[in-house]
Amino acid sequence: MSATVRRLRGPRRVAIAREILESLPAWFGTRRAREAHIQQAGRAPMYVCEDGAGIVGFLVLERLMTAAWEIAVMAVRPDRHRRGAGRALVAAAAAHAAARGATLLTVKTLAPSSPDRAYARTRAFYRAMGFVPLEVFPTLWGRDNPCLLMALPLVPPHRRRTTSALSRP
Ligand SMILES: CC(C)(COP(=O)(O)OP(=O)(O)OC[C@H]1O[C@@H](n2cnc3c(N)ncnc32)[C@H](O)[C@@H]1OP(=O)(O)O)[C@@H](O)C(=O)NCCC(=O)NCCS
Repeated sequence: MSATVRRLRGPRRVAIAREILESLPAWFGTRRAREAHIQQAGRAPMYVCEDGAGIVGFLVLERLMTAAWEIAVMAVRPDRHRRGAGRALVAAAAAHAAARGATLLTVKTLAPSSPDRAYARTRAFYRAMGFVPLEVFPTLWGRDNPCLLMALPLVPPHRRRTTSALSRP
Protein backbone atom coordinates (compact mmCIF):
# COMPACT_ATOMS: atom_id res chain seq x y z
CA MET A 1 0.00 0.00 0.00
CA SER A 2 1.30 3.44 -0.87
CA ALA A 3 0.13 5.25 2.25
CA THR A 4 0.77 8.68 3.66
CA VAL A 5 0.24 9.81 7.23
CA ARG A 6 -0.59 13.37 8.20
CA ARG A 7 -1.93 15.24 11.18
CA LEU A 8 -5.60 16.16 10.86
CA ARG A 9 -7.15 19.13 12.68
CA GLY A 10 -10.67 20.45 12.91
CA PRO A 11 -14.18 19.03 13.28
CA ARG A 12 -13.77 16.37 10.56
CA ARG A 13 -11.82 14.29 13.09
CA VAL A 14 -15.01 13.26 14.86
CA ALA A 15 -16.75 11.98 11.72
CA ILE A 16 -13.68 10.00 10.65
CA ALA A 17 -13.25 8.41 14.07
CA ARG A 18 -16.96 7.52 14.15
CA GLU A 19 -16.98 5.94 10.70
CA ILE A 20 -13.89 3.81 11.30
CA LEU A 21 -14.73 2.75 14.86
CA GLU A 22 -18.27 1.77 13.81
CA SER A 23 -16.74 -0.47 11.12
CA LEU A 24 -14.96 -2.50 13.86
CA PRO A 25 -17.70 -3.92 16.13
CA ALA A 26 -15.45 -6.75 17.37
CA TRP A 27 -13.22 -4.11 18.99
CA PHE A 28 -15.48 -1.12 19.56
CA GLY A 29 -18.91 -2.70 20.00
CA THR A 30 -19.66 -1.03 23.32
CA ARG A 31 -21.44 2.21 22.53
CA ARG A 32 -20.37 4.15 25.61
CA ALA A 33 -16.66 3.40 25.20
CA ARG A 34 -16.84 4.05 21.45
CA GLU A 35 -18.49 7.45 21.98
CA ALA A 36 -15.81 8.44 24.50
CA HIS A 37 -13.11 7.62 21.91
CA ILE A 38 -14.99 9.56 19.22
CA GLN A 39 -15.35 12.65 21.39
CA GLN A 40 -11.67 12.51 22.38
CA ALA A 41 -10.72 12.41 18.69
CA GLY A 42 -12.30 15.83 18.31
CA ARG A 43 -10.05 17.51 20.86
CA ALA A 44 -6.72 15.63 20.85
CA PRO A 45 -3.82 15.32 18.38
CA MET A 46 -4.93 12.98 15.60
CA TYR A 47 -3.03 11.41 12.72
CA VAL A 48 -4.69 9.82 9.72
CA CYS A 49 -3.35 7.38 7.16
CA GLU A 50 -4.65 7.60 3.63
CA ASP A 51 -4.19 5.66 0.43
CA GLY A 52 -5.57 6.37 -3.03
CA ALA A 53 -9.10 5.59 -1.83
CA GLY A 54 -9.11 7.99 1.13
CA ILE A 55 -8.54 7.79 4.88
CA VAL A 56 -8.04 4.20 5.98
CA GLY A 57 -7.03 4.62 9.61
CA PHE A 58 -6.40 7.05 12.43
CA LEU A 59 -4.59 7.38 15.75
CA VAL A 60 -5.34 9.75 18.64
CA LEU A 61 -2.65 10.79 21.11
CA GLU A 62 -2.83 11.93 24.70
CA ARG A 63 -0.01 13.52 26.67
CA LEU A 64 0.22 11.76 30.04
CA MET A 65 3.26 13.70 31.24
CA THR A 66 6.32 15.20 29.60
CA ALA A 67 8.09 11.84 29.33
CA ALA A 68 5.09 9.76 28.28
CA TRP A 69 2.48 10.07 25.56
CA GLU A 70 -0.26 7.49 25.11
CA ILE A 71 -2.10 6.10 22.10
CA ALA A 72 -5.63 6.89 23.28
CA VAL A 73 -7.18 5.00 20.38
CA MET A 74 -6.17 3.80 16.94
CA ALA A 75 -8.00 1.87 14.26
CA VAL A 76 -7.66 0.86 10.63
CA ARG A 77 -10.62 -0.03 8.39
CA PRO A 78 -11.06 -3.82 8.42
CA ASP A 79 -10.65 -4.15 4.65
CA ARG A 80 -7.24 -2.40 4.93
CA HIS A 81 -5.68 -4.44 7.73
CA ARG A 82 -2.17 -5.86 7.28
CA ARG A 83 -1.13 -3.31 4.65
CA GLY A 84 1.11 -1.17 6.82
CA ALA A 85 -1.28 1.59 7.89
CA GLY A 86 -1.02 0.73 11.59
CA ARG A 87 2.79 0.69 11.45
CA ALA A 88 2.84 4.07 9.69
CA LEU A 89 0.47 5.58 12.27
CA VAL A 90 2.53 4.33 15.22
CA ALA A 91 5.67 5.73 13.56
CA ALA A 92 3.97 9.14 13.31
CA ALA A 93 2.83 8.94 16.94
CA ALA A 94 6.34 8.00 18.09
CA ALA A 95 7.82 10.91 16.13
CA HIS A 96 5.21 13.33 17.57
CA ALA A 97 5.95 12.24 21.16
CA ALA A 98 9.74 12.11 20.74
CA ALA A 99 9.79 15.58 19.17
CA ARG A 100 8.09 16.89 22.34
CA GLY A 101 10.63 15.32 24.66
CA ALA A 102 8.89 12.03 25.48
CA THR A 103 10.89 8.87 26.08
CA LEU A 104 7.92 6.48 26.20
CA LEU A 105 4.87 5.87 24.03
CA THR A 106 2.29 3.85 25.95
CA VAL A 107 -0.97 2.11 25.13
CA LYS A 108 -3.62 0.37 27.21
CA THR A 109 -5.35 -2.60 25.66
CA LEU A 110 -7.21 -5.74 26.68
CA ALA A 111 -4.99 -8.14 28.64
CA PRO A 112 -4.31 -11.72 27.50
CA SER A 113 -6.31 -13.06 30.46
CA SER A 114 -9.40 -11.97 28.49
CA PRO A 115 -10.66 -14.67 26.07
CA ASP A 116 -11.34 -11.99 23.40
CA ARG A 117 -9.69 -13.22 20.19
CA ALA A 118 -9.86 -9.89 18.36
CA TYR A 119 -7.64 -8.23 20.97
CA ALA A 120 -5.12 -11.06 20.73
CA ARG A 121 -4.49 -9.68 17.22
CA THR A 122 -4.20 -6.17 18.62
CA ARG A 123 -1.56 -7.27 21.14
CA ALA A 124 0.34 -9.08 18.37
CA PHE A 125 0.39 -5.83 16.42
CA TYR A 126 1.72 -3.80 19.36
CA ARG A 127 4.36 -6.43 20.12
CA ALA A 128 5.44 -6.35 16.47
CA MET A 129 5.79 -2.55 16.78
CA GLY A 130 8.17 -2.99 19.73
CA PHE A 131 5.76 -2.34 22.60
CA VAL A 132 6.61 -4.24 25.79
CA PRO A 133 3.93 -5.42 28.25
CA LEU A 134 4.41 -3.64 31.59
CA GLU A 135 1.51 -4.34 33.93
CA VAL A 136 -2.03 -5.74 34.09
CA PHE A 137 -4.72 -3.74 35.88
CA PRO A 138 -7.44 -6.35 36.50
CA THR A 139 -10.23 -3.96 37.55
CA LEU A 140 -9.39 -0.58 35.94
CA TRP A 141 -11.99 -1.16 33.18
CA GLY A 142 -14.14 -3.54 35.23
CA ARG A 143 -13.58 -7.23 35.96
CA ASP A 144 -14.65 -8.36 32.46
CA ASN A 145 -12.06 -6.15 30.73
CA PRO A 146 -8.59 -6.64 32.27
CA CYS A 147 -6.32 -3.82 31.13
CA LEU A 148 -2.76 -4.36 29.89
CA LEU A 149 -0.34 -1.42 29.89
CA MET A 150 2.32 -1.60 27.17
CA ALA A 151 5.14 0.83 26.38
CA LEU A 152 7.48 1.58 23.51
CA PRO A 153 10.81 3.22 24.42
CA LEU A 154 11.41 6.22 22.17
CA VAL A 155 14.74 7.27 20.76
CA PRO A 156 15.17 11.07 20.68
CA PRO A 157 15.40 12.32 17.07
CA HIS A 158 19.06 13.38 17.42
CA ARG A 159 20.11 9.88 18.61
CA ARG A 160 18.37 7.79 15.93
CA ARG A 161 20.83 5.64 14.00
CA THR A 162 19.30 2.23 13.30
CA THR A 163 16.16 1.16 11.48
CA SER A 164 13.42 0.36 13.98
CA ALA A 165 10.45 -1.99 13.60
CA LEU A 166 8.36 1.08 12.85
CA SER A 167 10.10 1.96 9.64
CA ARG A 168 10.35 -1.50 8.06
CA PRO A 169 8.37 -1.90 4.82
C1 LIG B 1 -4.30 -3.10 15.31
C2 LIG B 1 -4.40 -2.38 13.94
C3 LIG B 1 -4.49 -0.88 14.20
C4 LIG B 1 -3.15 -2.71 13.14
O1 LIG B 1 -3.21 -2.00 11.90
P1 LIG B 1 -2.73 -2.68 10.53
O2 LIG B 1 -2.69 -1.63 9.51
O3 LIG B 1 -3.58 -3.86 10.25
O4 LIG B 1 -1.27 -3.17 10.92
P2 LIG B 1 0.03 -3.29 9.96
O5 LIG B 1 -0.39 -3.78 8.62
O6 LIG B 1 0.77 -2.01 9.99
O7 LIG B 1 0.84 -4.43 10.73
C5 LIG B 1 2.19 -4.27 11.12
C6 LIG B 1 2.66 -5.56 11.72
O8 LIG B 1 1.95 -5.84 12.94
C7 LIG B 1 1.75 -7.26 13.05
N1 LIG B 1 0.32 -7.56 12.97
C8 LIG B 1 -0.65 -6.74 12.52
N2 LIG B 1 -1.86 -7.37 12.61
C9 LIG B 1 -1.61 -8.59 13.08
C10 LIG B 1 -2.44 -9.72 13.37
N3 LIG B 1 -3.77 -9.69 13.16
N4 LIG B 1 -1.88 -10.84 13.85
C11 LIG B 1 -0.54 -10.90 14.07
N5 LIG B 1 0.32 -9.87 13.81
C12 LIG B 1 -0.24 -8.73 13.33
C13 LIG B 1 2.49 -7.90 11.88
O9 LIG B 1 3.83 -8.13 12.28
C14 LIG B 1 2.43 -6.77 10.86
O10 LIG B 1 3.47 -6.85 9.90
P3 LIG B 1 3.27 -7.83 8.60
O11 LIG B 1 1.88 -7.61 8.07
O12 LIG B 1 4.35 -7.36 7.68
O13 LIG B 1 3.45 -9.23 9.11
C15 LIG B 1 -5.63 -2.86 13.13
O14 LIG B 1 -5.56 -4.24 12.98
C16 LIG B 1 -6.95 -2.49 13.77
O15 LIG B 1 -7.52 -1.45 13.46
N6 LIG B 1 -7.46 -3.37 14.63
C17 LIG B 1 -8.75 -3.16 15.26
C18 LIG B 1 -8.74 -2.00 16.23
C19 LIG B 1 -7.66 -2.11 17.29
O16 LIG B 1 -7.24 -3.19 17.70
N7 LIG B 1 -7.21 -0.92 17.75
C20 LIG B 1 -6.29 -0.82 18.84
C21 LIG B 1 -7.08 -0.79 20.12
S1 LIG B 1 -6.02 -0.64 21.57
